[in-house]
Amino acid sequence: MARTNNTSSTRRAGTSSSRTRKTNASQRSAFSWGSSGSWLGAAAAGAAIAVAANLGRKLAAQGMSARAGDWDEVLAAEHQATLAIFDKILETEDGQTTKRAMLLKKLSHALDKHAYEEEHVVYPALRSANDAHDADLLEGEHGYVKTFLFELNEMDKDSSDFLPKVRDFRAMIERHAKMEEEEVFPRLKDGLTPEQNDHVTSLVNKEGFKMA
Ligand SMILES: [Fe+2]
Ligand SMILES: [Fe+2]
Repeated sequence: MARTNNTSSTRRAGTSSSRTRKTNASQRSAFSWGSSGSWLGAAAAGAAIAVAANLGRKLAAQGMSARAGDWDEVLAAEHQATLAIFDKILETEDGQTTKRAMLLKKLSHALDKHAYEEEHVVYPALRSANDAHDADLLEGEHGYVKTFLFELNEMDKDSSDFLPKVRDFRAMIERHAKMEEEEVFPRLKDGLTPEQNDHVTSLVNKEGFKMA
């Protein structure tokens, strides 16, 4: 509750001065907004190195992001894809231990990739836009995502406690994603210029490509 209240008040405060924020965002930002050329060059160089490994698989895995236009849409689509994996796990029965282990691995990969994008691009951009409170709160919650994954990995897959824990985990992810999609991402996006948002999108795709 405290989190919701804090973020709501922050949002209200932010909304009342959105025009001022828009002007100030680029001025106070420590992010490398103006040098997208060099970042894109680095992305291209990094991509060239990665090609040797398994370009086809990576392109397929990141295809969704490449098609989506904006960084917040990319991340929201990943939220939905992740929740769909949770739903598949919740459909399993206690005897389906191999399927549970396989889906847990898939869930873990999806969450790791998503966290990598947010923690290397979006949360730093939030801090640059003077929104460290929400960035720190959300990044702290990512720690508990890993704790849930650890506990589920350690648990016998036929345990009667398995699905209740998955349900708690899903609820936590849904809350976290809702805060990002409805409060934090719109506020950050609104405070950036179109060029800055394009730059964030290219950086999110670049980080996602590394983890695909
Ligand atoms: Fe997150
Ligand atoms: Fe997220």
